[in-house]
Amino acid sequence: MEKVIGIDLGTTNSCVAIVENGTPVVIPNRGGYKTTPSMVAVTEAGKRLVGHIAKRQAITNAENTVYAAKRLIGRKWNSPQVKNAVATSSYRIVEGPHNDVRIVLRDKEFSVPEISAMVLQEMKVIAEDYLGESVSKAVVTVPAYFNDNQRQATKDAGEIAGLDVIRIINEPTAAALSYGFGRNIEKTVAVYDFGGGTFDISILEIGAHGVFKVIATAGDTFLGGEDIDARIIDWLVSGFKEEHNIDLRQDRMALQRLKDAAEKAKCELSSVRETEVNLPFIISSGRNEALHLQRTLTRQTLEELAEDLVERTVDICKQTLEDAKLGKDEIEEVVLVGGMTRMPKIQSAVQAFFEKEPNKGVHPDEVVALGAAIQGAALVDDKQEMVLLDVTPHALGIMTFGSYFEELIPQNTTVPTHRTKIFTTSRDNQTAVKILVMQGESQRAEENELLGEFILTGLRRAPKGQVEIEVTFEINADGIVSVRAKDLETGLEQSIQVTATSGLTREEIKTMMDNAKDDLVDRRTSEEFEAAKQEAEKLIAEIEKLFPQVQQIVASSDFGRDAIEKARAIVDKARSAIERRDAAAVKEQIEGLTRTHRMFKGVVAKT
Ligand SMILES: Nc1ncnc2c1ncn2[C@@H]1O[C@H](COP(=O)(O)OP(=O)(O)OP(=O)(O)O)[C@@H](O)[C@H]1O
Ligand SMILES: [Mg+2]
Repeated sequence: MEKVIGIDLGTTNSCVAIVENGTPVVIPNRGGYKTTPSMVAVTEAGKRLVGHIAKRQAITNAENTVYAAKRLIGRKWNSPQVKNAVATSSYRIVEGPHNDVRIVLRDKEFSVPEISAMVLQEMKVIAEDYLGESVSKAVVTVPAYFNDNQRQATKDAGEIAGLDVIRIINEPTAAALSYGFGRNIEKTVAVYDFGGGTFDISILEIGAHGVFKVIATAGDTFLGGEDIDARIIDWLVSGFKEEHNIDLRQDRMALQRLKDAAEKAKCELSSVRETEVNLPFIISSGRNEALHLQRTLTRQTLEELAEDLVERTVDICKQTLEDAKLGKDEIEEVVLVGGMTRMPKIQSAVQAFFEKEPNKGVHPDEVVALGAAIQGAALVDDKQEMVLLDVTPHALGIMTFGSYFEELIPQNTTVPTHRTKIFTTSRDNQTAVKILVMQGESQRAEENELLGEFILTGLRRAPKGQVEIEVTFEINADGIVSVRAKDLETGLEQSIQVTATSGLTREEIKTMMDNAKDDLVDRRTSEEFEAAKQEAEKLIAEIEKLFPQVQQIVASSDFGRDAIEKARAIVDKARSAIERRDAAAVKEQIEGLTRTHRMFKGVVAKT
């Protein structure tokens, strides 16, 4: 059987695993470590370094060492997250030709997927060394809250690395797979994953026979250990400034040393109550005199510095429980994933919120890769019984006339899925429509993420509202979106796999939205139809439920047979009216449906 590796491409650390003889195992790198820093560097001699060796030289080669590239993947240059990274990173981040993000290493520009590809390639080599053969297939994980652009860019990275990424899966889902693997449990679990760059929470039902069903997921793709490190750096920098009136951020090497020291102090404070940050010769005073940085950081101060960040994760947990329509008491197990969950304050915050002690039985750094390997093995082995039902973390829809966001697929819908909705032209004689595809939770289109656009042309000239356009959204098992629009009259069709808009500036997007205003589709006189449809469908469901009983009771009489036939006809008519989306016709059938329903209930009640 073909071997498939599972790769957890982390912000801080990456990990690779494989299923061997039915057992998932983490593959150590040449140094014997089970995780590899997601760092890439180019030396003065032009040599490319990845992993531990890149990390080891980070301080002396700060400007040419990249860390946390995952925070930039699939993002636009103009996004606030990229601005933040530009201001705080010791390596150079510049604007690419399509408003995308480029990283400069020794005067050469790299795209973010290229950087991530180097890490993926390293993971591939680690696996090949261990297995003694080449591997090409992989399952790669992404934060559950990644949007389509970020997923696409991760897939691109895999391709650049020479991997056939057979599936992208969500990190908390992978963790749950590994947690539940081979244990034959039935449980509702929450996976709280706080890593180096991102925070995710997923609520899953683990069922018998290997069914893993995600009920709800949420997160923040810019909230992680990096942000806690940044708080410590701020604290150190401002203390130093007060004392010496020198801004340490001006010096890239000093910045890299601060970052190192901050992370180290943070990790130490998970087991001790105070620690000393000691950075001799951090900078020159300008008067030929070297200055040192020395400060004591207590666990309590760290907790104060990080308080609002921890609080944010708890707020997201709360929201997710609401989305899942579950009470805290219905969560049977809380699984902690990600290096940050070693911080006592985080453990106690999770425990306080869920009102139960979290499970620390899984290895927080390895469980995601193990889950990816399990999924990989299941994908190539038909004998494996495992069903993974994940959800889409963001609502998907299009922008309609008046700048509304019209949702086609709601948040937390199980994927793969597809949904179709019919729209109409928004002005007289409109011969082309623009479909702006968006992802997000806001009613106002401009507040959501624009994924892509396309135009459907050659429509018949007609008064507004008369030409109908059918829009279909599809999300595949990787969580990747494609969209199709069809002129119902001519059958003419246009489709895109939503990809390449990471090249647009905010302004360009705004202009695009403004320009598109006239060419947008409109919601079909739909409110009226939707209301009628809902009512009719409810009645049909009730009638259907009673059918077998009624049939049994009245089948012996002629009257009974007649009544049943009539009822059937009414239900059929209503159904076809719904299918045609004919509001008036649906309404016409409601009276008949109501009558039938009443009669059926009467028949059943009498016996
Ligand atoms: N003992 C510890 N105490 C506190 N924090 C820790 C400890 N050990 C590791 N961390 C932090 O955990 C983070 C890394 O976690 P992890 O390896 O799970 O992240 P990742 O998978 O690389 O990132 P992500 O999943 O967000 O992409 C870093 O910020 C690291 O400093
Ligand atoms: Mg992780």
